[in-house]
Amino acid sequence: MKAGNPIHRLRRTSLCGALLLLAFAANYARAETGADAWLRYALLEKHAAQVYAALPSNVVVLGDSPVLQSARAELVRGVRGMLGRTLREEKSRPHESTIILGTIFELKTVSPAIFEHVTLHGDGFMLATQQAHGFECLIITSTSDRGVLYGVFALLSKIARGESVSAMHETQQPDAPVRWVDQWDNLDGRIERGYAGPSIFFENGNVRTDLTRAGEYARLLASIGINGCAINNVNANPRVLEDSFLPQLARVADVFRPWGVQLSISVDLSSPKVIGGLDTFDPADPRVAEWWRKKVNEIYRLIPDFAGVVVKADSEGRLGPATYGRTPADAANVIAGALAPHGGIVFYRAFVYNHHLDWTDPKNDRARAAYDNFHPLDGKFDDNVIIQIKHGPIDFQVREPVSPLFSGLEKTNEAIELQVTQEYTGQQRHLCFLAPLWKEVLDFDMHAGAQPTPVKEIVAGRTFHRPTGGFVAVVNVGMDANWLGHPLAMANLYGYGRLAWNPNLDSKTIAEEWTRLSFGNDPGVVRTIAEMLLASWPIYESYTGPLGAGTLTDILGSHFGPGVESSERNGWGQWHRADHYGIGMDRTAATGTGYVDQYRAPVAKMYESPNTTPDELLLFFHHVPYTHVLHSGKTVIQHIYDSHYAGAEQAAGLVQQWATLKGRVDEERYMEVLKRLEYQAGHAIVWRDAVCNWFFQISGIADQSGRVGHYPGRMEAEAMQLQGYVPFEVVPRETASGGKAVECLPPAQKCSVAFHFEGAAGGYEMDVQYFDQNKGKSKFRVLAGDRVVDEWVADDHLPATKPGGDSSTRRRIPGLALRPGDSIRIEGVPDGEEHAALDYVEIHASPE
Ligand code: GCU
Repeated sequence: MKAGNPIHRLRRTSLCGALLLLAFAANYARAETGADAWLRYALLEKHAAQVYAALPSNVVVLGDSPVLQSARAELVRGVRGMLGRTLREEKSRPHESTIILGTIFELKTVSPAIFEHVTLHGDGFMLATQQAHGFECLIITSTSDRGVLYGVFALLSKIARGESVSAMHETQQPDAPVRWVDQWDNLDGRIERGYAGPSIFFENGNVRTDLTRAGEYARLLASIGINGCAINNVNANPRVLEDSFLPQLARVADVFRPWGVQLSISVDLSSPKVIGGLDTFDPADPRVAEWWRKKVNEIYRLIPDFAGVVVKADSEGRLGPATYGRTPADAANVIAGALAPHGGIVFYRAFVYNHHLDWTDPKNDRARAAYDNFHPLDGKFDDNVIIQIKHGPIDFQVREPVSPLFSGLEKTNEAIELQVTQEYTGQQRHLCFLAPLWKEVLDFDMHAGAQPTPVKEIVAGRTFHRPTGGFVAVVNVGMDANWLGHPLAMANLYGYGRLAWNPNLDSKTIAEEWTRLSFGNDPGVVRTIAEMLLASWPIYESYTGPLGAGTLTDILGSHFGPGVESSERNGWGQWHRADHYGIGMDRTAATGTGYVDQYRAPVAKMYESPNTTPDELLLFFHHVPYTHVLHSGKTVIQHIYDSHYAGAEQAAGLVQQWATLKGRVDEERYMEVLKRLEYQAGHAIVWRDAVCNWFFQISGIADQSGRVGHYPGRMEAEAMQLQGYVPFEVVPRETASGGKAVECLPPAQKCSVAFHFEGAAGGYEMDVQYFDQNKGKSKFRVLAGDRVVDEWVADDHLPATKPGGDSSTRRRIPGLALRPGDSIRIEGVPDGEEHAALDYVEIHASPE
């Protein structure tokens, strides 16, 4: 797909627009690739900078650890960028008003009296305006160097957002001790479920020679309080533990260290056998324990601040303790024992399930797996083991209930696993701001005690008085300059970090903070982007998987486009069990899989009955007829139709909203976001039509509003005059309009479709629906009469190997003047395995 759908071309250049452009040009003089993320430190306008006139001009740093050096350098960089002033770095005690950075311990040696009543611990920090040696100073302090660094980032964030920093007395304490990210990077440089280019850590089987990006990533993570990062795929290559590989890992730890980010790796449990030369990896075998002990000691010799390991075992083909009839606790503890003397942690993932479930047995239920496997082991894990629990019982679907395992472990540490990389939520092609989803999960009361016990309290270790616990997110940044592909997707990484630090923040605050830091403080820009972010998850949900049925994506392939039936009749257990009469998984205790009973009684009671189950989760818990009436008053089937039409319309609305920011944000990111939103609006229609048609076919119940199956202005390619093009059936059929499309097969080198326009004379826009696969770059040209009105190359990098829901792409041609009888021709030139396939054309009157 070639860049740029020309909404911007239609823009009328007005004097007003030109003036606006001039006003903002100064702010956006440099190219905004997105690499700076929320740490842009853009120069504040004069009157905004005035607020910080009293900020001291000196900085004194008490200590010289790598982390404190980063803190100082960051402060200097930020103040220079935003206020245009270069702080003077003093070595000794203050002789005038100064910014002082240092741990409480160091500060007490300078000025013993000032911290008598401060209670800080771990990574918590304080920003305080205090007298020191007779001068008013701005003090940034913590019990740890890392906390001081966090305090510097907090101060700079305030300045960037225009908040006052005078007369401060603010302490911030992170909610949980563990705030990690996982990257699913493979050693060959590819990233599992990564959508923004290759790995920043690995290439060709080794750690990259140039780790500049890895260091920059650590800086970004530190700025939102993340203190650990596992850099390789949970489907781990045992090679990471080879002695010859460990020095390479140490190089990554070196670039992380100045930012207080501790290195972690994912390990494969079969390593003692696969790379260790033992004939077993049985955790109960003393030789295996000894192997882990020696390996861990060697790691700490090279990486003294190594954080620990992540384990995925007995899951999706990974080997694990089940091979020897042992439990996850046996396996976790043998590694934990080796790590304990060094202070390291084992994250053992609760994502353990059988993906060969018998789908014909209505009692089988993948959602049960985490609880069934781990609840019986409560109390059997060592204190430096944390069970890493995906937020829902299935797998990062657009809507799931909270995993019942959170209230199923009272004597075991827990962490919640969230997903920043949008595997099931549009893969950074679609806008989907996930903070509101995460908030719902974190705030959900598990009813595990006399007082409310929201998930956030449990994972922080407070509910059950655990020594540790916290947050993990799968992030998968890549080498793309802007880290995650979609410029607005960075709001998810930022939002994750902010919630891991303080889960009581609300989504709106997070969205606004991020927008201010990433795009500046223009109130209109902040309002518009925050609104778009906050609306985006419900929008995405409404044109994909409704009512808790699962995302309805192709679960056997890309997890991207629609694939309603892909979840059924296989062992993966993501079933929605839709048939001719109804849809949904019966997970009740009375008649279903019994999953509901894994929750504490008040929660179980709510989900046991369709009357008390919230509409948005109805189909997760209950199998109901399509005619079942929701709390909203609609039938299930009509809800499916209505929500998909509304969602696709709202996705189109996002394009319009963004277009109002033309000239008010930098052109680079404006165009990049516009391109993705236009793609999303087109793909939302692919989703809408696929899901609605599938349910119409299976239920036989018509859409009350008559939309499903009727597409005004649409002409099927297979019904046009074909020259060279041949019709074919698309599989699954609902992923192409009418189930068919046309393709230009070899030896033809160029084909065309043609038709005559039959509407009234006037201004129109034309949508051409074509298939952009990833093995070839077909060319398209559209002619009205003998005028070429558009041409493009289908060269996008979608996760699409064949014509269907992943590859179906819309090209919008605006501003067409047409008369009745005009002939319209589309020429396609195939390339490689991509046969310039076309689905349909839709012509609509131009919007006013
Ligand atoms: C999902 C994802 C896999 C990943 C797995 C996991 O199933 O599709 O790519 O390996 O989760 O979390 O381990």
